[in-house]
Amino acid sequence: MKKLMLLFLSVVLLAACTTQDPTEKKIERLLSQMTLDEKIGQMNQLDPTWLQEEKEAQIRAGQCGSVFNLVDPQEINRLQHIAVDETRLGIPLVFARDVIHGFRTIYPIPLGQGATWNPDLIEQGARLTAQEAVSSGIRWAFSPMVDVARDPRWGRVAEGYGEDTYLTAAMGAATVRGYQNLHAGVQDSIIQMAACVKHFAGYSVSEGGRDYNTTPIPETYLRDIYLPTFKASIDAGAASVMCSFNDINGTPSSANRWLNVDVLRTEWNFDGLLVSDWGSGSDLVPHGYAKDKKEAALQCINARMEMDMQGMIYADYLKELLAEGKVQEKQIDDCVRSILRLKYRLGLFDNPYCDQPLIAYSDESLEAAQKTAEESAILLKNNGILPLRDGQTVLVCGPLAHQQKEQLGTWIFDGEAEHSVTPLMAFRELEQQGKIRLLYEEGLTYSRDKNRSGISRVQSKAKQTDVVLFFAGEEAILSGEARCRADLNLPGIQQEMMDALYQTGKPVVLVVMAGRPLTIKRETEQAAAVLYAFHGGTMAGPALANVLTGKVVPSGKTPITFPQTVGQVPLYYNKKNTGRPTSNPMLIDDIPVGCPQFSIGQSTYWLETGVEPLFPFGYGLSYTQFEYSDVRLDKNVLSLAGNDNLTAVCTITNTGRYDAAEVAQLYIRDLVGACRPLKELKGFEKVWIPAGESREVKFTLSVEQLKYWHEEKHDYTTTTFFAVEPGEFLLWIAPNSNDLGEAATFEVK
Ligand code: NOJ
Repeated sequence: MKKLMLLFLSVVLLAACTTQDPTEKKIERLLSQMTLDEKIGQMNQLDPTWLQEEKEAQIRAGQCGSVFNLVDPQEINRLQHIAVDETRLGIPLVFARDVIHGFRTIYPIPLGQGATWNPDLIEQGARLTAQEAVSSGIRWAFSPMVDVARDPRWGRVAEGYGEDTYLTAAMGAATVRGYQNLHAGVQDSIIQMAACVKHFAGYSVSEGGRDYNTTPIPETYLRDIYLPTFKASIDAGAASVMCSFNDINGTPSSANRWLNVDVLRTEWNFDGLLVSDWGSGSDLVPHGYAKDKKEAALQCINARMEMDMQGMIYADYLKELLAEGKVQEKQIDDCVRSILRLKYRLGLFDNPYCDQPLIAYSDESLEAAQKTAEESAILLKNNGILPLRDGQTVLVCGPLAHQQKEQLGTWIFDGEAEHSVTPLMAFRELEQQGKIRLLYEEGLTYSRDKNRSGISRVQSKAKQTDVVLFFAGEEAILSGEARCRADLNLPGIQQEMMDALYQTGKPVVLVVMAGRPLTIKRETEQAAAVLYAFHGGTMAGPALANVLTGKVVPSGKTPITFPQTVGQVPLYYNKKNTGRPTSNPMLIDDIPVGCPQFSIGQSTYWLETGVEPLFPFGYGLSYTQFEYSDVRLDKNVLSLAGNDNLTAVCTITNTGRYDAAEVAQLYIRDLVGACRPLKELKGFEKVWIPAGESREVKFTLSVEQLKYWHEEKHDYTTTTFFAVEPGEFLLWIAPNSNDLGEAATFEVK
């Protein structure tokens, strides 16, 4: 019997070995030859600027698995030669970099990319970005950031695709596909540049919009809002994930075993690499989660944080922890497997060096960057002044009109300002072509400038023109990591400049270039038109000139709600109804003096602003008009059995004079359940419609898409699961989250 059992076990083992794919076999073979020091060395990622002198010795001694922030191919190859030729096993390094929205050619900040609602375009840009980065030796990008962000005070709102889970998931997955350049069916081929989906997880919920702050998040919110974007990127093939800095309900992510093992590995079957954020493991000490770095190392390895970015906790303490029996070698092996897997997927064992000519600023990438900037510009208001007409005299002014660096936005380590084309440069070109007459007066030299002396000069030039183009906004340094704001107004005295321009009586077009939605209520009231451009990257100038002159018809839509005032944030479209929905909000100045306590009702709103945003999610105007017909459903009952789905169709007619693109959005509402949001985006499509023509848009909605996270408590135990409850639903296909029109209804049975 015993013999039979042994035979059976050997057969099973043999079968397991023979079914293993070739890469896994190579990983096992290599791992079996590695010493403990070599394994721990692989788990260490270093920024060379921190360890200049020691870096070569460290690589030679096998104490480093990855180097980041080095972009010189010669230096990269030199260090790679040390790793490959001078270490015992010749394991190549992987060189990483914060490639966030472009490498040399800079694309609009990710928030601007979100405004395009065009994942194919984003994928193309990511593919071209990877070509540039790879030609400089970079094989691993620390992006996309798929943190759903609802608070524009948080500086990193610039780095994500906005407030919505569905939109962020689509954009994140597109970026992963573009970077890695994998196509369906060839998943085993070599990855062009590994994506790193970050920050896992919940980082954007930083209390008060203050970076690195604590993030209390119920699991229902994590499951429904914050985690699905990571899952979508992983399903798209993302090769790595980065831990976040924050603690969720008391556990910092780098030490969160539930997140990193139970969810990421067990539920989602992720077999890629989990890297810490910069020192996020050693940060367990200031977090007050570990008493010292050694304990931090123990907590991180127990939570399977696999590579330590710059924290040195694994390098310094793992061996000791192993000797003390607190860590098992198997835990280390699991981490090293993921690291080697990434290197094999990148083909580094066969081609460790960067031996191709530098690629930068190709016509194709400049065109893609310009198209992305054009599609990311959102027309928020237009009284008819736009598009500009041939022969007009135009004043270009404002602190962002001619700032080659600032228009690139945050995280542009490798972008070069001298390649940027500013709005002023683009308008000078138009002047040379005889299309317009141009006047220029900067007025303010940077966005926070408080020097009033330029305002009168701007005013007097404005009086000589037909139209004023005021390029306002934020400098790049005011958004991004650790750049949070407690005030969302235009910085400095830009509001005063707007007042001064308004007083001239000339039509003012406000163009905002910023890293977040700013509170521009007063400026919007004064302006004849408002174009919101975020930081548009290298080609922002020509892109904006094209949109302003009508060569390109604006099609961007807000990826995030624009609040009226900072006191409204976090403000987002998929809010809940509450038990006291807003009704007849009475604004503060209308409240009679001395009126009794409940005389103004008891519903949810702010006394100064009501509940309406300045601009809702999904909003954006065009130079043409679109009419939506009623939605038709192919069925009104969806069955719970199997993954049933329905088709929703509506016709959109371009009733205006311009051929243009429209972003049709599919929203649903689950009427009864665990207090479901009033609206949830479940699909979108950007459709090109020539003037006077109609197009049908068609969405498929599955029961799977209606599921949400349930928590059921019975007898002190909680059961959790994704499910959809039977009941009635509303469905809209609409131009934005506010103008929903008549709802179609269906039922899940
Ligand atoms: C910290 C940031 O949070 C992360 O996004 C970035 O990739 C790393 N530093 C590396 O620079």
